[in-house]
Amino acid sequence: MSNILYFETLDSTQSYLKEHFTQLDDQTVVVAGTQTAGRGRFDRRWISEPGGLYFSVLLKPTKTDFLANITQLMALSICQTAEKYGIEPNLKWPNDVQVSGKKLCGILSEAVAQNGKIACLVLGVGINVAQKDLSHVGQPAVSLRELGVNIAKEDFLQAVLDIFFQHYEAVVAEGFSVIYPAYKERFPFLGKQIAVKNGTSAVTGIAQDLSPRGTLLLQTQNGPQEILIGDLIV
Ligand code: BTN
Repeated sequence: MSNILYFETLDSTQSYLKEHFTQLDDQTVVVAGTQTAGRGRFDRRWISEPGGLYFSVLLKPTKTDFLANITQLMALSICQTAEKYGIEPNLKWPNDVQVSGKKLCGILSEAVAQNGKIACLVLGVGINVAQKDLSHVGQPAVSLRELGVNIAKEDFLQAVLDIFFQHYEAVVAEGFSVIYPAYKERFPFLGKQIAVKNGTSAVTGIAQDLSPRGTLLLQTQNGPQEILIGDLIV
């Protein structure tokens, strides 16, 4: 059972855990009703208005070989939780959860190093639950409420954590292979022409497969390419 700390407002649940990780137990979860300085991937802002579910999980894994796969497990856990409420979400590699092309959830994964080694991983999750307005998101977005799901944020959070921690130790030990079939089943872009943007540059090609380590295998004009990080654009 995780220790869950609730705050009405924080600058960022992510920053809170990164600042306090030495005093906090493994698997501590921090939740905020709103964030004044929420952060997204690639240094983007994450506007965090009331109604959304904003939380970060502190992880101190015994083995740090598969951190990217732990993040993918969180995305999968959110997908599977949404499915329990009758939604048909899909994964947008690496960590987004979307419904009919609209963003439902984003995940920011940050490793903290101390004395030259990884001390912890902080997984930050933003889920659109019941915000009034999502026009600031910068891409098509949708909330659970718009999808007809009216659920208490705490209940959704608990369901996500239950699924995540059921598989967490196995992913820490063995990596992507633990979740490969479930992840692939929810990844509808295989065989499709896609682009992956990383900063200002983009690579285009056909999505061939996910590799055994959870990276994206793209068939480009210049041959096969393994993509380690980026934003998938379809
Ligand atoms: C993304 O860019 O899609 C990832 C967004 C992650 C937002 C969450 S909200 C809780 C946690 N605190 C933050 O400041 N960011 C993450």
